Amino acid sequence: PLVGTGALVRPAADAGHGVGAFNVVQLEHAEAVVAGAAAAGSPVVMQISENAVRYHGALAPLAAAVLAVAEAAPVPVAVHLDHATDAALVAQAVELGFSSVMFDASARDYADNLRTTAEVVARCHAAGVWVEAELGEVGGKDGVHSPGARTSPDEAVAFVAATGVDALAVAVGTSHTMLTRDAVLDFELIRTLRAALPVPLVLHGSSGVADEHLTLAVAHGMTKINIATHLNHVFTTAVRRTLAENPALVDTRRYLAPGRAAMGEEVARLLTVLNAPVVR
Ligand code: G3H
Ligand code: ZN
Repeated sequence: PLVGTGALVRPAADAGHGVGAFNVVQLEHAEAVVAGAAAAGSPVVMQISENAVRYHGALAPLAAAVLAVAEAAPVPVAVHLDHATDAALVAQAVELGFSSVMFDASARDYADNLRTTAEVVARCHAAGVWVEAELGEVGGKDGVHSPGARTSPDEAVAFVAATGVDALAVAVGTSHTMLTRDAVLDFELIRTLRAALPVPLVLHGSSGVADEHLTLAVAHGMTKINIATHLNHVFTTAVRRTLAENPALVDTRRYLAPGRAAMGEEVARLLTVLNAPVVR
């Protein structure tokens, strides 16, 4: 069933579990995420990014499919809008029944990030929607990696108090869209942020983190773990192999199905790595 994101993430944070948050660009991604979550018996977050909306030209069609897949799932599934910079897109997601949104004003200066995030939080909370924000920019979205970016604990405490956000994405050594899984995490900073903040922490760019470091990140206090690029890598590798072995293939289902299956297996495996809660 479709559930609230807070209902998944808050208890997981209290219990020291990780919650997998996997990006969905097309229907097969959503089917793979739910198949993997069902195999693991764990709840999961499916997220649609503003970039994915740009790719499709609209939010509503993909959102309808993803929400329907979530509602039919045998495990609890939250549907989240990822990396929204446009407040109008946030409003649309709220209207469509999303569980939560991320408003990402991390590219703005501190005061501007705080002011715009607080406005979005007020509107979302009035509609009962959970909000994630980002402080200390996690790079790599534009291909420019900045693994040295760090979130200041003092700024984070003030930011959370002033904005009322429900979760905070923090810069602790990751970078988006990495294909090598060799990011160096600042585990002491994760521990410090977790101890200082009253809200769960979100790790972005988690594709670049090795399995054992993902487990350690959760153990040190990270809760919502966002993974996109790595699963696309797994999906596309299976598609590429299938097409290479069967050059005459035409039916899209014949090569997307192996991609979907491979991604589903990897989702199930990652949920174990993240020490995700097991609910059934
Ligand atoms: O918001 C989504 C992510 O932070 C995923 O990043 O593609 O580097 O795993 P990634
Ligand atoms: Zn991200």
